[in-house]
Amino acid sequence: MTTGMKLKQFLLHAKRTGVELPFDLIELIHEVSITCKEIAATVSRGELSGVLGVAGSENVQGETQKELDIITNDIMVEHMKVSGLVAGMGSEEVDDPISVPAQERGEYILLFDPLDGSSNIDVNISVGTIFSVLKAPMGCRAEPSLNDYHQKGTQQRAAGFVVYGPSTVLVLTTGQGVNMFTLDNSIGEFVLTKEGVEIPEDTKEFAINLSNKRFWEEPMQQYIEDCLQGEKGPLGKRYNMRWVASMVAEVFRILVRGGIFMYPYDNRDPSKAGKLRLMYEANPMSFIIEQAGGMSSTGHERIMDVEAKDLHQRVPVILGSRNEVAKVVEYHLKDEDAA
Ligand code: AHG
Ligand code: MN
Ligand code: MN
Repeated sequence: MTTGMKLKQFLLHAKRTGVELPFDLIELIHEVSITCKEIAATVSRGELSGVLGVAGSENVQGETQKELDIITNDIMVEHMKVSGLVAGMGSEEVDDPISVPAQERGEYILLFDPLDGSSNIDVNISVGTIFSVLKAPMGCRAEPSLNDYHQKGTQQRAAGFVVYGPSTVLVLTTGQGVNMFTLDNSIGEFVLTKEGVEIPEDTKEFAINLSNKRFWEEPMQQYIEDCLQGEKGPLGKRYNMRWVASMVAEVFRILVRGGIFMYPYDNRDPSKAGKLRLMYEANPMSFIIEQAGGMSSTGHERIMDVEAKDLHQRVPVILGSRNEVAKVVEYHLKDEDAA
């Protein structure tokens, strides 16, 4: 019975009982969790912090940054830069890879979205931090090249996210299932609250921003139309819909009670293959979803097999309960066959 163990205690225990986890990876995850506690404290101060609202600058995707996007990015960068555990970092909020001084370099590349769902900050809805850990091919011996960052999702050594909701919860995988740790503010520690999370295979709940329907590809439009027809339609089920506009909150819900989340390809801007970013949103979430028995696809291929070409590249995302995601993939396959 490991429920109730503190995060680091749990990781050390797992290693002792046969799970292959290098000590520096345990340290890295622990340091990221400490950073997320700081972000949680910052986020929870809300209006008191005096930093809500638009900061005025734009990030590399041409989106307006909130001050908290920048503040949380800086918290992560400053903390991890001197941890001695990372060789380089990539952040949603920074155009180029973030270098680490030679004497501070470690063995890993850390990719992160410091504040996911940040448009929800002003309206007091859950936000989160997403992270992905890759092995730096040259280790601490050299600064990682751009190419070193472009690894497939299958290469991830660990992935996680922290959702700052009514409670702060860290969701983590190191490739041996998914575990959840709730922040106990009375002791300042993440404590194991759910071990071996498993997503129900079937679901009647979908999450998509329906206002974009006219921009989607035909199979996606067809699937949603069929969902909306309910039990009399071809899918034979009465569906429920949710859209939080914070991927962290949607994925958390799916881990708890199943569901399907989609941010599909749309033709609003042909240069963007979707809205979500492969390296620090889609890949870590896909690793977690697959480790919990779910499925994650672009509609045409497994997300973790997508070739990485750019730190900020976008990708269509369809993830969640295995049988429902498989159904959406079928719609896409039928469409490919008909073409
Ligand atoms: P971010 O705040 O890091 O830019 O990510 C927001 C993402 C994701 O969390 C969410 O699912 C989606 O954008 C919401 O998009 P819409 O506002 O288009 O619904
Ligand atoms: Mn995001
Ligand atoms: Mn973000």
